[in-house]
Amino acid sequence: MFDRFQRKIHYLRVSVTDLCNLRCVYCMPAEGVSLKRHEEILSFEEIEEIVRAAVDLGIDKVRLTGGEPLVRRDILTLVGRIGAIQGINDLSITTNGVLLPRYADALRAAGVDRVNISIDSLDPARYREITRGGRVEEALAGVEAALNAGFEKVKINCVINKTPDEPDAITVAGLGARKGIEVRFIRKMDTVKGEFWKVIGGHGGHCASCNRLRVTSDGRVFPCLFSDICYSVREMGAADALAAAVEAKPASGIRSNNQFYSIGG
Ligand code: 5AD
Ligand code: SF4
Repeated sequence: MFDRFQRKIHYLRVSVTDLCNLRCVYCMPAEGVSLKRHEEILSFEEIEEIVRAAVDLGIDKVRLTGGEPLVRRDILTLVGRIGAIQGINDLSITTNGVLLPRYADALRAAGVDRVNISIDSLDPARYREITRGGRVEEALAGVEAALNAGFEKVKINCVINKTPDEPDAITVAGLGARKGIEVRFIRKMDTVKGEFWKVIGGHGGHCASCNRLRVTSDGRVFPCLFSDICYSVREMGAADALAAAVEAKPASGIRSNNQFYSIGG
């Protein structure tokens, strides 16, 4: 699929849940996240149908996001179903890593090629502060589990305030250097204020070469993180909603009311 600006759209990010086992300060409110009703959330059948429709339209790269994708009940069954779809060259997952000791091997076996793990500081007190209660040891155990599971690639996502020279970021860069893992630095964004930046060491935020669509866990296809334009797969059907999103994809982002925990970064 090509959009109106001749960008080849071949990457689909699927948020499988809004829920998370952490509460990062820049992503989620401390409390009062309104729970989606069970019927609002896409079933595995619906998600599989969307991914199949997307692959038919030319998507060959799929990433599962959240919230935290690994807290979705029976996630391995869903991953297995998506992993079995012919035509996906690259299946990846973005996770905070906490549940990877439990799931890494099974995710690899189910067809996940690559894993991105979010860690913003190695300092236990800072990590606890940033995640509102998380334990950095658990995320680090997740990194080890991912490295041992034989993924094609393991990367670390590190959210920074401004620069990779900040003390927290330096600790994470050190981990990357010790383990031989690529670290991508993501400057804190604000959808509402329209503040967004290019990912340092990644492809995100480069509007002119943006190749992605996003699906939320309640079945809305967003052509851009920084636009409120979206199309409901339940109202339109998956193929039409995806095609409409490609057609409406803006040249660049402006601002939106999107929440990171619901659209998956
Ligand atoms: N700014 C930038 N990235 C964010 N993420 C969540 N909230 C924000 C934000 N406000 C991203 C982080 C994290 C991923 C799960 O979501 O990159 O690693
Ligand atoms: Fe959870 Fe990731 Fe958001 Fe942190 S950034 S609260 S780990 S979804």
